[in-house]
Amino acid sequence: MSWALDKVIVSGSTARLPLDLSFDGWDGRVFLEIGFGDGGYLAHLASANPTVAVVGMEVCQWCVTKAARRVLSMGLRNVKILRGDARYLMRMCLARGSLDRVILNFPCPWPKKRHAERRVTSPQFVRLLSGYLRPMGVFCLATDVDWYAESAVEFFSAEPGFQVIERTVNPEREYLTKYERKWKREGRDTFSVQVRYVGGAPSAPEEELKIYPEEDLFMEVGFGRELEGSIRSLRDRKGGTEGHMFVFRDVFAGEDGCFLVSAITVDQGFEQHFYVRIYPKGGGYGVKLDPVGHPYRTPAVRMALKEAMGALKVG
Ligand SMILES: C[S@@+](CC[C@H](N)C(=O)[O-])C[C@H]1O[C@@H](n2cnc3c(N)ncnc32)[C@H](O)[C@@H]1O
Repeated sequence: MSWALDKVIVSGSTARLPLDLSFDGWDGRVFLEIGFGDGGYLAHLASANPTVAVVGMEVCQWCVTKAARRVLSMGLRNVKILRGDARYLMRMCLARGSLDRVILNFPCPWPKKRHAERRVTSPQFVRLLSGYLRPMGVFCLATDVDWYAESAVEFFSAEPGFQVIERTVNPEREYLTKYERKWKREGRDTFSVQVRYVGGAPSAPEEELKIYPEEDLFMEVGFGRELEGSIRSLRDRKGGTEGHMFVFRDVFAGEDGCFLVSAITVDQGFEQHFYVRIYPKGGGYGVKLDPVGHPYRTPAVRMALKEAMGALKVG
């Protein structure tokens, strides 16, 4: 069976942002699940709420593919899946104030202090949610880690605009996720925390992350010169400004006269690995984002493309 995964998985390099989540029969509501794992809960949520747009965000590529197949095989039309760290994807891809429910099921707790910044739930995340939840929208956390639930309650209680509306030990849930089933088999307790956003400005709003339109990242260079040396000189070149950095790693030449330059960018902590494609066009070269890896069109990505184009100009 061939899978039209791109019907469900959003490509960062080509999607119009913020995402248009509308579909026939949509009631205007949007639910987001962060870290959906094998996608069981995501698919359950979408099939139980066919008039709601359901968005899933997940860092693991294998999980993304598995969940997209599950969604397609169930014939669900109300799901979009984005690969990456939800703490950044939310800012890049969703309209502010558009979420009715945000669900976080059994997040990795990252118990070591030195890994604490990898935890999804944090004071910054709470402020982020206040920008993306609609007033009366709800955040739902389920975890098997008591201190994680406690610290979530603490973070939300400290931010005006949120009310903790439920704290339950071993809640009855209509669908058990893969991890939840595992913890239940092992006899562990589970904890649920639900928080309502009642409205109001966050105490310190999260900075928005600019995303450029696709047209803006397509560059043509009209020089018909022998430029291979200049293109190869991009290797190991770095640049950027505070908060937005890029580095080129390697340059690969293809048989068709194209070059692929591997690049890493970081925007305010959001890291992306992708290729810049330099290809013969007319008498010169064009520079564009290679679609493999689906990078989002952030400021650092734009700087990397401009740097590549600059190298062609001096060739
Ligand atoms: C312990 S698993 C739980 C999976 C699923 N929710 C369940 O209950 O079976 C945590 C999942 O969150 C994903 N994840 C971790 N940090 C994330 C982030 N910042 N954004 C999106 N997904 C994340 C991981 O890749 C992993 O699949």
